[in-house]
Amino acid sequence: MKDPLTPYGNRPMVTPIVHAVNYEYSSFEVLRQITDGEIDGYTYHRDDNPTVRAVEHTIATLEQGEDCIIATSGMAACTMVFFTFLKSGDHLILFHDIYGANYKVSLILEKMGVHITWLDANESSQIESHIRDNTRMIFLESPSNPLIKTIDIVKMAEITRKKNVLLVVDNTFATPYHQKPLSLGADIVIHSATKALGGHNDLMAGAIITKKEFYDLLWFTRQAIGTTLDAYSASLLERGLKTFALRAEKMSINAQVMAEYLKKHPKIKNLRYPGLPDDAGHEISKTQMQNGFGGMLAFEVGETIEEAKTFISSLKTIIHAVSLGATESLICIPFLTTMLYLPEDRRTLFGVRKNTIRLSAGIDPATELISDLKQALEKV
Ligand SMILES: Cc1ncc(COP(=O)(O)O)c(C=O)c1O
Repeated sequence: MKDPLTPYGNRPMVTPIVHAVNYEYSSFEVLRQITDGEIDGYTYHRDDNPTVRAVEHTIATLEQGEDCIIATSGMAACTMVFFTFLKSGDHLILFHDIYGANYKVSLILEKMGVHITWLDANESSQIESHIRDNTRMIFLESPSNPLIKTIDIVKMAEITRKKNVLLVVDNTFATPYHQKPLSLGADIVIHSATKALGGHNDLMAGAIITKKEFYDLLWFTRQAIGTTLDAYSASLLERGLKTFALRAEKMSINAQVMAEYLKKHPKIKNLRYPGLPDDAGHEISKTQMQNGFGGMLAFEVGETIEEAKTFISSLKTIIHAVSLGATESLICIPFLTTMLYLPEDRRTLFGVRKNTIRLSAGIDPATELISDLKQALEKV
């Protein structure tokens, strides 16, 4: 059948934004084929949308997965994974070093009867001793949020395979430009596509990349609860993906340059960036990351939160805002922002201090970023 939008077969350069909620069935036979799953068809937006589906295929290819399911946000994606693969009585292992809002979701999961163990990323080498008969899933980030700690994904996958546990990796910080967890043995990869995949601070989305069998289960969850992304956001995400590799490359070059500068600065302590040879995660990161080490770094400024605030308030190019992986360089104090979801004592349980700063490199000229850091540190 000819595409009514391009009757002569001229393919548009951009996937059309299909805002339709519902679609006319061309026949009862087509309706049957769609509902029996024989053809990839569209009936109702909560089920599927062609603009969204096009981006799912692109992200699946980026992460070398069989398929991808897009959701309304990174947290929707995380929650869909928990709801799909966990049931009452199951045991879940989470790391403190993951995005703070997962703590809130963990409270909901506990209400639903899921048992949870929280570990420090530094304890990941002893993971086997924490696995129980009912352990169903391990969920991790590497590099982690916000302290940029590294977890050995290959080693973790060897253990989860042996123990029949699902390994879920939130790859938002690393991005598929630098790390492909499925090829390292993970079962499921999650992204906050709000971050580097979208890249322009103008859309919220989440992505889950996995094998076809799991895609089908996740599709069922999304269809049931209605976390399907709108077509306009999907189109913005498609546009962001066109420059993703260029942006990821520049972000990691900028992060490396800033890390090398800050490392030598007397007012900076506990700098963490896996691209530095003396970083605790450098050797493992060299084996599981490519093309550089990503755009995220963490460090302490001075001794107090007041000094950290003075530093951030003095910056001119680097912007004081949450989120990450954007064209702009973004900086924040996790204790006051991304970790607000956690009770105060939990925020400092695993190495975060009140003056810990998280910096997301953007695509600004590196020289501008260094002079901005320099002048702001002079004010501390
Ligand atoms: C690593 C990581 N995962 C997931 C999320 C949640 O993503 P979203 O804000 O798109 O819900 C974030 C948000 O900052 C994040 O940093």
